[in-house]
Amino acid sequence: MSLKFITAEEAAGLVNHGDNIGISGFTPAGTAKAVTAALAKKAEEEHLKGNPFQIGIFTGASTGESCDGVLSRAKAIRYRAPYTTNADFRKAVNNGEIAYNDIHLSQMAQEVRYGFMGKVKLAIIEACEVTPDGKIYLTAAGGIAPTVARLADKVVVELNAAHSKNMMGMHDVYEPLDPPYRREIPIFKANDRIGQPYIQIDPAKIVGVIETNMPDEARSFTAPDPVTDLIGQNVADFLAADMKRGIIPSTFLPLQSGVGNIANAVLGALGRDKTIPAFEMYTEVIQDAVIGLMRQGRVKFGSTCSLTVTNDCLKSIYDDMDFFRDKFIIRPSEISNSPEIVRRLGVISMNTAIEADIYGNINSTHISGTKMMNGIGGSGDFTRNAYISIFTCPSVAKEGKISAIVPMVSHMDHSEHSVNILITEQGIADLRGKSPVERAKAIIENCAHPDYKNILWDYVHMSSKGHTPHCMSAALAMHDTLNKKGDMRLVNWSDYK
Ligand code: COA
Repeated sequence: MSLKFITAEEAAGLVNHGDNIGISGFTPAGTAKAVTAALAKKAEEEHLKGNPFQIGIFTGASTGESCDGVLSRAKAIRYRAPYTTNADFRKAVNNGEIAYNDIHLSQMAQEVRYGFMGKVKLAIIEACEVTPDGKIYLTAAGGIAPTVARLADKVVVELNAAHSKNMMGMHDVYEPLDPPYRREIPIFKANDRIGQPYIQIDPAKIVGVIETNMPDEARSFTAPDPVTDLIGQNVADFLAADMKRGIIPSTFLPLQSGVGNIANAVLGALGRDKTIPAFEMYTEVIQDAVIGLMRQGRVKFGSTCSLTVTNDCLKSIYDDMDFFRDKFIIRPSEISNSPEIVRRLGVISMNTAIEADIYGNINSTHISGTKMMNGIGGSGDFTRNAYISIFTCPSVAKEGKISAIVPMVSHMDHSEHSVNILITEQGIADLRGKSPVERAKAIIENCAHPDYKNILWDYVHMSSKGHTPHCMSAALAMHDTLNKKGDMRLVNWSDYK
């Protein structure tokens, strides 16, 4: 069977109002770019004619400007799951224009398989190679591509020349069976291979191949600053101390690191600290910092779902594939983030919080309890199952007007039951083996900014006794004060008694 080459516009013509589409990629890495842009144009044209045109989008994690960006601005998205980082999408979600289902990334593929979100009409898969017998070789990410390619009625392939064919062989494609037939996922080491280097589908389903040459749209990070450097050093000191105590084996354990500026800075610090031995990663994103550490021999191997790196960095990997071929493996998100494997390998998780409360509950997603920032991503997949779960954040945001440590989080993503360690630039709160009251002392004394220590102690002292002391009328008073006066430091507890 020969492959049929079509245009992005022809592919967009296969999608009707109300359809769900499945997209390859995980973060802007490996995501569809041409057909989604054509779909945005189609939506605008239909809207001009007075016709409705909105679709559902199922993907691995965030995408890029050519997907979430253009489709949000064209008001073409009715429903989307899971994670996203796009500013226009965020605006539309917070205006109530898009139904955004922020689920754990490990669950996305199986929830599509279970039929929780409806049928997939078209899968758009970015590839570095596709063969007439239905083998699709993915580019810089695994995501949910194997699942949506298998389930969709039709598949189109964006054959993207911006990705090197050197990526062939770097993927490990594996889809578990669903209950009651599910078996163990046989990964016992970060570098175990259990699947195929390609997605195999019925070639009759591939209705078109679109040739493109479009680089990934990963954002670059802000350079580490004194605060993120201190956070990174605190993480390194904590891990070194736990290794010295024998809690972490001297061979070390695989690390997971979240997304964003802080995560990037933390990894840089871990690489610099030679008391930490060279380590492996079992993680969902590899950012630029990890590639540098692989070159320095500080990261021995990375199992990931994506290479979320800048284009210069990606090019340098493609140009040096002889070196990188045994340094990383790219897996679908339900394997890279599998709770079963995270628990089995003893992964140490490191994620970033927006805010934490004095008892160790974490808000990773919502500003002031209501406005979606990005989403939970894989932070829950890793945190709940980690050998040691770590959260980091600066102690304050917005020039000190906001404390990241509050009496009660305004939205909760990770509960006190799953969080072991909290780290800010101020210090380290080890929450393991502590009661709520003991945790509050560790967090206020070690992690809160000096401007907020007394404010938080005053809250604890005014709280009624109990296993987890709180004053319900004042629990969100710092947020209320921020809302009314623009600065949490101006809270007046007596107004809330
Ligand atoms: N209240 C209001 N704004 C806050 C805040 C708070 N308590 N804490 C942080 N912010 C703001 C920052 O000021 C910054 O704003 P800006 O963009 O206007 O400068 C923004 O949030 C991002 O913070 P930054 O310090 O640059 O951190 P980051 O890039 O490391 O991102 C998260 C932090 C939490 C948003 C990001 O890590 C995330 O989305 N995490 C959830 C998903 C996840 O953990 N995935 C992990 C597995 S991949």
